[in-house]
Amino acid sequence: MVNVRHARNVVPGHAPVPAAGMRSITILGATGSIGTSTVDLIKRNRDRYRVEAVAAGRNVPALARVAQEVGARVAVVSAPSAYAELKDALAGSGIEVAAGEDALVEAATRPADWIMASIAGAIGLKPTLAAIEKGMTVALANKECLVCAGGLFMRRAAASGATVLPVDSEHNAIFQALHSGPREGVRRIILTASGGPFRTWSMEQIRAASPEQALKHPNWSMGPKVTIDSATLMNKGLELIEAHHLFQLPSAEIDVLVHPQSVVHGMVEYRDGSVVAQLGAPDMRIPIAHCLAWPARIDGPSPRLDLAKVRQLTFEDPDLDRFPALGLARQAMEAGGAAPTVLNAADEVAVAEFIAGRIPFMAIPALVEATLDAAAGRGLLAEPDSIEAALGVDHDSRQLARSLLPEIAVKAS
Ligand SMILES: NC(=O)c1ccc[n+]([C@@H]2O[C@H](COP(=O)([O-])OP(=O)(O)OC[C@H]3O[C@@H](n4cnc5c(N)ncnc54)[C@H](OP(=O)(O)O)[C@@H]3O)[C@@H](O)[C@H]2O)c1
Repeated sequence: MVNVRHARNVVPGHAPVPAAGMRSITILGATGSIGTSTVDLIKRNRDRYRVEAVAAGRNVPALARVAQEVGARVAVVSAPSAYAELKDALAGSGIEVAAGEDALVEAATRPADWIMASIAGAIGLKPTLAAIEKGMTVALANKECLVCAGGLFMRRAAASGATVLPVDSEHNAIFQALHSGPREGVRRIILTASGGPFRTWSMEQIRAASPEQALKHPNWSMGPKVTIDSATLMNKGLELIEAHHLFQLPSAEIDVLVHPQSVVHGMVEYRDGSVVAQLGAPDMRIPIAHCLAWPARIDGPSPRLDLAKVRQLTFEDPDLDRFPALGLARQAMEAGGAAPTVLNAADEVAVAEFIAGRIPFMAIPALVEATLDAAAGRGLLAEPDSIEAALGVDHDSRQLARSLLPEIAVKAS
C-alpha cells in the first residue's frame, strides 16, 4: 500500500488508512464547539461512522445527550464528581459510563479507527498523547498538544507510526496544499488570520475592550478560549508553533497574513513561485469533514463558497504593536525548549481572568510576557522530555502567572 503521508511528507505515520467501510470513532471533547461539529457530521453519515466513545469535562447533560444521539458504547466525564449524574442520565441506555482522568486516557486508547482530539487546553495532552503512543489516527484540534510538548508529541507520533491529521482550518488548508508538490519544493507556508473583532480598533479602544466585545468573533463560531485568543492574535501565535511542529518548518518559513474574509485558510508557496491555497466558507465542519473521511471525501453540509458574492479577498500584514501576543508566540517558538509551554499556560490563566472580568484585555499579552521573563530568570525553560515534565512546566507556569497577576493587572489598566 502506498503510504500517503510519507509520500507527501506532511505528517508522520504508518497507521493503516482506515478502511472504506464503517469507521469507528472516538470523540474527546464531544460537547464543545469542535466536538459538536464532529457529531453533526457523524449524524449525517450514520452509514459510515460508528461511535465508540465520547468524552467531556463536566457537562453531563450535553454529554449524555450526545452519547445517546450517536449511540456511543462508552461515555466518559473527566470530573469524578460528575460520575453519579452521568450514570443516572444514561441509566437503561446500555451505554457504559466512566469518570476521571484515567478513564479519559482509557477512552482515548480504546480500539477505534479515528479519534477526534478536541478537548480544550493543556488538559487534553495526556489522553491525546496516549492515543498517539498507540499509533492511532488522530484528528488533532487540540493545538495545546503541539504548543506545550510539540517536540515530544511529534517524536512519539513518528515512533509509534500514529497519523496526525490537522483539524485547525489553517493547518488543514496547508495539509491539503502540501499535496501539490514535494517537501523540498516548499519555500514557505502562510497562515491566514481573520484579525479578530479588534482588527480595525485603535490601541485606546483595544485597551478598554470588554469580554463581551472580545467574544464576538466576526467570522467563526468557536469556544470561549479560542475566541479570546483570536482577539489577541495569540491564537495565530499558537498556530505558528503548531505549524512549526506539524510541518517541521523553521520560523523563517512560516508567515502570517491577516485576511478578514476568512475564505483563504492557508497557502503554500513553492520554489517555482506557485502559491497553492485552500479556500472555503468559514465553517469548521469543512476541515473536520476532510479529516473524518481522509483520504476520501464526503458530502459536507457547509454553505458552498460563492466567490462572486464574496467579491473581495483582502490581505494585510499583522500589526504587532496592537497585537503583541503574536510576536511573543513567535519569540517563544524561536527560543524553543519550554518557552511555548510557559506561553500557553500563562495565556490560559490570563484569558480565564479576562473572561471573569478581573483583568483588562491588554493584560493578557502583558501577563504572558512577564511570565516568560520570570520563567527564563528562574531557569525553567529547558525542553520537557516527558509528558510529566511538560505538565510540570505547565503547572509551575500557571502558579508563576497567578503570582504576577496583581502587578500586571495594575500596569495594564
Ligand atoms: N472551535 C474552533 O473552531 C477551533 C478551531 C481550531 C482549533 N480549535 C481547538 O480545538 C480545541 C477545542 O476547542 P473548542 O472551541 O471546541 O472548545 P470548547 O467549545 O470550549 O469545548 C471544549 C471541550 O473540552 C472539554 N473539556 C474541557 N475540560 C475538560 C477536561 N478537564 N477533561 C475532559 N474534557 C474537557 C469540554 O467538555 P465540557 O463541555 O464538559 O466542559 C468540551 O467538550 C481547542 O484546543 C481549540 O484551540 C478549536
